[in-house]
Amino acid sequence: WGVLGHATVAYVAQHYLCDEAASWAQELLNDTSDSYLANIASWADSYRLTTAGKWSAPLHYIDAMDDPPTSCNVDYERDCGDEGCSISAIANYTLRAGDSDLTAADTTEALKFLVHFIGDLTQPLHDENYEVGGNGIAVTFQNYSDNLHSDWDTYMPEVLVGGSSLADAQGWADSLVDEITSGAYKTEAASWIKGDTISDTVTTATRWALDANSFICTVVMPDGAAALETGDLYPTYYNSAIGTIELQVAKGGYRLGNWLNLIYKQKIASK
Ligand code: ADE
Ligand code: ZN
Ligand code: ZN
Repeated sequence: WGVLGHATVAYVAQHYLCDEAASWAQELLNDTSDSYLANIASWADSYRLTTAGKWSAPLHYIDAMDDPPTSCNVDYERDCGDEGCSISAIANYTLRAGDSDLTAADTTEALKFLVHFIGDLTQPLHDENYEVGGNGIAVTFQNYSDNLHSDWDTYMPEVLVGGSSLADAQGWADSLVDEITSGAYKTEAASWIKGDTISDTVTTATRWALDANSFICTVVMPDGAAALETGDLYPTYYNSAIGTIELQVAKGGYRLGNWLNLIYKQKIASK
């Protein structure tokens, strides 16, 4: 996701953090504002662009070698590269965030990576190898030449919300929380975190990746990539995709909140 999506995932997660886990995160981040997770949600994207942080670029995705739109799937052994992937990163930083022997600086770094990677995992094209996660699929969106990946990350969410500021993200998060609490997602939200366990992080994160990757075949490119390369993706394709974008951002936030609560509880229990 882009800045808007990551900040929205973070605000949704903040809504579900228990008070103790929220204080723990605020203390680590040295930020008691009401945007303590949103403020750091895109840090990992800035870091990957620095010389020192280049190594972390593969941790933002898992390149599922499936065959869309006929077959969609994720296989951790097959798809997580030697340099690591989002699933191995979530496993590693979950351990590190919960490790009371690490320094505050290392724990804080682990938290910042988790807030970002759990968000990226719900963007279907971050769980897909085809054309470098859609970066190589040239499309037109609202008369603007770009690629399918950036439309999913950034441009479609921004058209929905009408901006990309923290206030825009907070507004979007509030409406997604309403959908979870009493709206369209009320009956299914429990299934988004069902079985999630920090004692088997690879299995849990692989389930999240498989869930997101399945949308490649049904929503992202149901008729193949070539069908997207002529004409403008707005409004027909946008209308077919935007509901999935909202769902996946809501899921990312709900899962992240629950995940940080689980890490915090385990940390306290093992003291
Ligand atoms: N680089 C290589 N594969 C990618 C993907 N699936 N998403 C984003 N960047 C990538
Ligand atoms: Zn992306
Ligand atoms: Zn990222």
